[in-house]
Amino acid sequence: MSRRQKLIDLKQSAPHVLPSLLLCDFGNLASEVEQLRAAGISALHLDVMDGNFVPNLTYGMPIVSGLRRLTDMPLDVHLMIERPERYITQFIDAGADVLTIHVEAVEDPGKLLDQIHRTGAAAGLALNPDTPLEQVTPHLDACDLLLVMSVKAGFGGQKFNPVAIEKLTELKARKPEHVVLEVDGGVNTGTIARCAEAGADLLVVGSAIFKQDDYRAAVRQLHALIV
Ligand code: DX5
Ligand code: ZN
Repeated sequence: MSRRQKLIDLKQSAPHVLPSLLLCDFGNLASEVEQLRAAGISALHLDVMDGNFVPNLTYGMPIVSGLRRLTDMPLDVHLMIERPERYITQFIDAGADVLTIHVEAVEDPGKLLDQIHRTGAAAGLALNPDTPLEQVTPHLDACDLLLVMSVKAGFGGQKFNPVAIEKLTELKARKPEHVVLEVDGGVNTGTIARCAEAGADLLVVGSAIFKQDDYRAAVRQLHALIV
């Protein structure tokens, strides 16, 4: 199956909860992935941070390729890095199915989205809460996925910013049919239903899964709120 097809399949069975692998136990990745799979998760969201575009620093290609060896689930890679054009090929080779760049991090988003597209992966474009929708709308046709940040990119555990609901609602009304909508940051049992109603197909969740003892119970509760 082509990488882009995996995203199309996810959209057809949306909405989905995507765990953000930021607060997970990196000493036990195999067990974490298995627990998430057993909890009913069907795709993973990977947060790559470079200490420049965002102050936080996480991980890069080796963790993506390690996860690739652990699972067939789609890997949704969220690049919070400056000049991501330097690493596109390497993240695709590592096994990313969806590669998302931040509109604030690049000079020519269209060019980069095309570059990702040519590899056969799905191309995503993300925008922070303070970034107006007008910065991404010219590129909607070139996107497979639009990631609406509901916190400023950089850290897990932040408070949901409702500006994301306004953006999702507007995007739902005007986006091309093929574009998948994703929301990320502060999504929990108190905010997830509003995000799904506003049109989010993919709902990224960090703390509301990884700060819970029982992933299965946490995921079940989140799913119950969006179906
Ligand atoms: C923030 C990341 C998110 C974050 C989600 O920069 O992109 O994926 O880890 O974590 P919570 O759900 O805790 O906000
Ligand atoms: Zn993310």
